[in-house]
Amino acid sequence: RRVILSGIQPTGIPHLGNYLGALSNWVKLQKSAGKDDILLFTVVGWHALTLPQDPSTLRSTRDDMLAILLAIGLDPEQSILFHQNHVSSEAVQCVRLAQRSQNPHHMELYWILNCLTPTGKLRRMTTWKSRLAASRNANSEDEIDESLLNSGLLTYPVLQAADILVYRTTHVPVGEDQSQHLELTRDLAETFNRTFKGKTPLFPLPISIDAPSKRILSLRDPTSKMSKSSPDTASRILFTDTASQIKSKVKSAVTDSIHGISYDPIARPGTSNLLTILAACTDSDAPDVAKLYECKGHGQLKDDVVDAIEEMLRGPRAEFERIKREKLYLDDVARRGALKAMEHSSATIQEVKMCMGLA
Ligand code: TYM
Repeated sequence: RRVILSGIQPTGIPHLGNYLGALSNWVKLQKSAGKDDILLFTVVGWHALTLPQDPSTLRSTRDDMLAILLAIGLDPEQSILFHQNHVSSEAVQCVRLAQRSQNPHHMELYWILNCLTPTGKLRRMTTWKSRLAASRNANSEDEIDESLLNSGLLTYPVLQAADILVYRTTHVPVGEDQSQHLELTRDLAETFNRTFKGKTPLFPLPISIDAPSKRILSLRDPTSKMSKSSPDTASRILFTDTASQIKSKVKSAVTDSIHGISYDPIARPGTSNLLTILAACTDSDAPDVAKLYECKGHGQLKDDVVDAIEEMLRGPRAEFERIKREKLYLDDVARRGALKAMEHSSATIQEVKMCMGLA
């Protein structure tokens, strides 16, 4: 049986990259899941703390993200939907699952895995390197002392590994930007299995499940990925954007001046990105879509991309506006999700501790 887990940071409204690269794939996996499969989708509050967060904003963005997961069609009866930081004291207080006192599971495994992770490996992570580069730019100094960055930024890939391994996950649906973190996760699983030999290896080595559009690019700079952190808000389309916002962002997307439309991600990244988006919205292949536009121009392509995105987002966007007001329902979903998640994580933590002489 498959154990499928993925997560998303509650750092603002998700963009089209998050939606097409990850979230929509979660819904597809839910639809095609076998009856033995376990699906877990989590809002990763602990991860958000690597950047400064205003507490009241964080409270509402965490709620909003859960509402979005429901709005796109994830069903709490089929998938375990939970806040990462609830798999700890809050849920325990609710139902006194504390009898077995193995909480908080994500954080405990995080610490254990930290102690198996060489710091050199973390310094080679591209996420760490790009944070360093970004803070260099912000400080306009050639040399910035990395001691200014908080250590959570360096070690959060280990927390992600703990998120995955604490459920003995086998499959992880994420975008391409997460592949280095998954490689680290497999390394850590292997190291643990080798170091603490039991009758059978404790952790499976999880693999990623790619969406067809695993990398959606910035609309303004199609050499980089669409991201929440870019200062140019026209570079991304948000889940909550109105029809007119979608239109103006797509219309101003950077393409090229080559005549006609073709799919060539290297030579024509901007045009190809629009084709990737159109294909993802209409459940088809980008090269196939390109053939339909061979004799058409960028104007026509952009019009159709606008319509396809609006068509795809209209329903879920309205659903989000409705669900986000239902605070009691959201709390109930989160509480039930945390308890179900803990049934799986507590068994793992117990075995981990046994293997290590900590039980
Ligand atoms: P996060 O919150 O940055 O992104 C959530 C998901 O969106 C995907 N994604 C993209 N896909 C295609 N094109 C893009 N431009 C694009 N931008 C983002 C990401 O690949 C991701 O799947 N560390 C993770 C969250 C996390 C997690 C986990 C994921 C924490 N624990 C355990 C899986 C399993 C993150 O920051 O994702």
